[in-house]
Amino acid sequence: MGIERLVDTNTHEEDSEEQVLENSLRPVSFADYIGQERMKSNLKVAIDAAKKRGKGATLDHILLYGPPGLGKTTMAAVIAHEMGANFRVTSGPAIERAGDLASILTNLAEGDVLFIDEIHRLRRAVEEILYSAMEDYKLDIVIGKGPAASSVRLDLPKFTIIGATTRAGSIAKPLQDRFGLVERLEYYTDDEIKKIVARTASILNTEIQPDALDLIATRSRRTPRIANRLMKRVRDFADVNGDGIVDKTMAEKSLALMEIDDLGLDPADRNMLNLMLDNYGDRPVGLSTIAALTGDEETTISDYYEPYLMQMGLLERTKNGRRVTPKAKAHLAKYRPL
Ligand SMILES: Nc1ncnc2c1ncn2[C@@H]1O[C@H](COP(=O)(O)OP(=O)(O)OP(=O)(O)O)[C@@H](O)[C@H]1O
Ligand SMILES: [Mg+2]
Repeated sequence: MGIERLVDTNTHEEDSEEQVLENSLRPVSFADYIGQERMKSNLKVAIDAAKKRGKGATLDHILLYGPPGLGKTTMAAVIAHEMGANFRVTSGPAIERAGDLASILTNLAEGDVLFIDEIHRLRRAVEEILYSAMEDYKLDIVIGKGPAASSVRLDLPKFTIIGATTRAGSIAKPLQDRFGLVERLEYYTDDEIKKIVARTASILNTEIQPDALDLIATRSRRTPRIANRLMKRVRDFADVNGDGIVDKTMAEKSLALMEIDDLGLDPADRNMLNLMLDNYGDRPVGLSTIAALTGDEETTISDYYEPYLMQMGLLERTKNGRRVTPKAKAHLAKYRPL
């Protein structure tokens, strides 16, 4: 990705300042995980049932999917916490060979939760090993090569896989079928985002006035990661330019500096929509064309830009491509001189 975007829903570096912020703000239990009520109640039932079945009972494998920054990783850790289980973390692209997966699985203890982030990026050969591991806690390994090769079946401890993905559509059916619970994360309501901003302000020890809180919430793209990031930026701005108290004026000035508009769009979003409008008007545009216009990768457009723009009714998907809506047109007209 070219320019660094403030409202980018992705985090890029493992131990960046950003990551430190996220970790310090991450809810650890159901009690402090705000919103996603339907998912939480489904998960609570599953967890209570597993606990009730007693020792040796494990939680079903769980697949969490939805746009970036909505709380999948956070929820996976919460589930492990609520189960009193170890939380082990890996990701689809990190597991390069079947042998890597075998060593991860054989090192698990009974009841462990193994989180596989970006599970849609698992390699084919790795995925196939995972099937039988998930289904009956067996691992088939081939020893040796050629005619002398033989295969052994190892017993694995009973574990729970929690997979996370931004694209449920890219997961092979046989893999998807092996998850007992499949939960979609939704964009947060205004009210929930406000609670998250308030919680973040309090963890950051920042005094924030209610109208400033409302303002930050409405610009947060209904996404906790962005709410936290904006809250922190506005806090820094108020520290430097005032007495540290976040009031509406401080919030407005700081958000204006970041060029985030009243729908939460940043310059890159507006640029994409404007390019589409200038070149194609309200005709549908193919994903590869949009990517060529903005200079981004197609997956960046489809995974990071699009979900929120569609959620807000600014972009729609037709069978011939993506189309800028009249609502977007009206919105953009406010931000650029005609
Ligand atoms: N329900 C919530 N309540 C409060 N804060 C939350 C909630 N969900 C997420 N957050 C905050 O938002 C940040 C981003 O969440 P998380 O990393 O879990 O998103 P994700 O869905 O895994 O994103 P990605 O798809 O990019 O991996 C967390 O560090 C946490 O601080
Ligand atoms: Mg994540």
